[in-house]
Amino acid sequence: MSHYRSHSNGRIDKTHVGQTVTLSGWVLRRRDHGGVIFVDLRDRTGYAQIVFRREVSEKAHTLADHLRTEFVIRIQGRVIARTPENVNPDIPTGEIEVEVLELEILSESRTPPFSLDAKENIDVAEDIRLRYRYLDLRRDELRENLMARHRYTQAVRRLLDQEGFLEIETPVLNKATPEGARDFLVPCRLNPGTFYALPQSPQIFKQILMIGGMERYYQIVKCFRDEDLRADRQPEFTQIDLEMSFVTQEEIMALMERIVVDSMREVFPDRMAGFAGSVPRMTWQQAHEEYGSDKPDLRFDLRLLDVEKAIGETTFQVFRNALDHGGRIRALCVPDGKCLSRKDIEEATAYVGQFGAKGLAWMRVTDTGLDSNIVKFFPESCQKALIEKSGAKPGDLLFFVADKPAIVYPALGNLRLWIGKKLSLIDEKKMSFLWVYDFPLLEYDEKEKRYGSVHHPFTAPKAEDLPLLETNPGAVRSDAYDFVLNGNELGGGSVRIHDTRLQSRIFSLLGISEEEAKHRFGFLLEALKYGTPPHGGLAFGLDRILMLMRRVDSIRDVIAFPKTQRGQCLMSGSPSDVPAEQLEEVHIKTVEA
Ligand code: AMO
Ligand code: AMP
Repeated sequence: MSHYRSHSNGRIDKTHVGQTVTLSGWVLRRRDHGGVIFVDLRDRTGYAQIVFRREVSEKAHTLADHLRTEFVIRIQGRVIARTPENVNPDIPTGEIEVEVLELEILSESRTPPFSLDAKENIDVAEDIRLRYRYLDLRRDELRENLMARHRYTQAVRRLLDQEGFLEIETPVLNKATPEGARDFLVPCRLNPGTFYALPQSPQIFKQILMIGGMERYYQIVKCFRDEDLRADRQPEFTQIDLEMSFVTQEEIMALMERIVVDSMREVFPDRMAGFAGSVPRMTWQQAHEEYGSDKPDLRFDLRLLDVEKAIGETTFQVFRNALDHGGRIRALCVPDGKCLSRKDIEEATAYVGQFGAKGLAWMRVTDTGLDSNIVKFFPESCQKALIEKSGAKPGDLLFFVADKPAIVYPALGNLRLWIGKKLSLIDEKKMSFLWVYDFPLLEYDEKEKRYGSVHHPFTAPKAEDLPLLETNPGAVRSDAYDFVLNGNELGGGSVRIHDTRLQSRIFSLLGISEEEAKHRFGFLLEALKYGTPPHGGLAFGLDRILMLMRRVDSIRDVIAFPKTQRGQCLMSGSPSDVPAEQLEEVHIKTVEA
């Protein structure tokens, strides 16, 4: 038997009554009730109540007087049943306590800067929690998040193994892989003036593994992206990265879906109770047109409406301008929107402003028709058509944005989510999975005046759209797909180009010269020439999956050592400056910022 423990603290119950046990752990709480000292002794599995009574052990009782929260101790004691009035039905160990015969203090603790007691629901600034991450990790919530993460990765590994996927590692010191973010660079001492890039994903290597005949690859892998951080983004995050050969898009999607859904069912059965059992699919075009998003949240059914025809004869200048200059007008019909006040509408207007909308027109639906500051610009026939098109009922509220498509869709797509939250239209129990597919291959960058990849440059254009590559590249669709849950992008992938000529053509469309392509991706272009199987794959964001399954608001809560929005680790103090000699060694000179 171990010197430190015979049992786990959270696993002792009635069946152990009468036994002598050895327990170790941290002092979670200590209470002195008229000479009897109670301690809740915590370890990874939970906690048990231990009791110090003078008449049982004078020595242990005296020493117990020194105990403070987070001291680490070892005890030996006897398990006894609690009297019925003292039973705590909320915890697994609530029917017993351990009467201490012997106490050893293994290590003392300073008073922690915040309480680790789940019962004391205090708001601690996240900076403090991150600085003392080792204390934060002792809290039930974070511990359970990490344990769930472990169970989930185990389940995924097992399922993938059963499906014949090989787990293969790819290099971290790399040549840059384009995924649309900035690279983190690492100077190479042995070759002055050269740099490795940390991988934004293993994209090129996994394709080369397919060319190398591995057929089915996966890796649970760190990816590094220097981009603006948000609640669901970290500069280093983890992907479940997959690639397969000799498969169609349909086969990839079906298998990926099965693996994710099965692993989630296994590890998060309660959460998956809200899953209807099938994953619907939607083209990117439909998602964009009806939800103003490429990752629509389908837990509530509020859609963007094309009201351009209905509006027809309006004299409202803003709308006329949009119609006359190739703009769009889309509306949302908010069911029972009468509960939105003037102030709410102002708030909504400011909100769409963040997405570039210059205003937010609105109309209330009354028993007699439409009512707002602008209805005078809409003839009777127009108002009738609007009501008919939107299916609006008295009490509803119509919102409109008129502008360029690049403003209208994001503005209303986001307003849709704002309304969903504001009016509690979202059923939080629902698990609404969705495949969005047929993404556009390219998007035009107005600033750079050239096309960029929507996914990445290795994504295959749809065969039937190939002729458009020359005539209308912006209209070419791709064999790319995203996996969405409750309005979050959990994963994305594509069928890849397996033909060198087509790959070169795409590079040139992207404005990447032959020379540059050779410099950046020459090794892939070369490899493609030696017998490349058709292949494709996908990567899931593991942190995001955990975040949604554990219902936490921040991705940081499912990562052991996360970084702040400014990319810092507050515990270790990275990033930090380095001694001048070290910079010299890697041939780097810094300039004053
Ligand atoms: P993509 O760039 O879409 O695809 O990334 C795949 C998934 O990774 C997650 N993700 C992130 N999670 C946390 N922090 C970030 N900064 C972050 N960036 C992305 C998302 C996303 O869906 N190589 C391709 C995959 C492929 O084509 O097979 C790729 O990386 O959940
Ligand atoms: P104005 O004539 O500028 O006072 O605007 C009248 C109404 O139209 C206000 O409710 C504005 O919020 C709204 N509005 C202004 N610009 C737009 C726009 N681009 N799309 C939709 N509504 C707008």
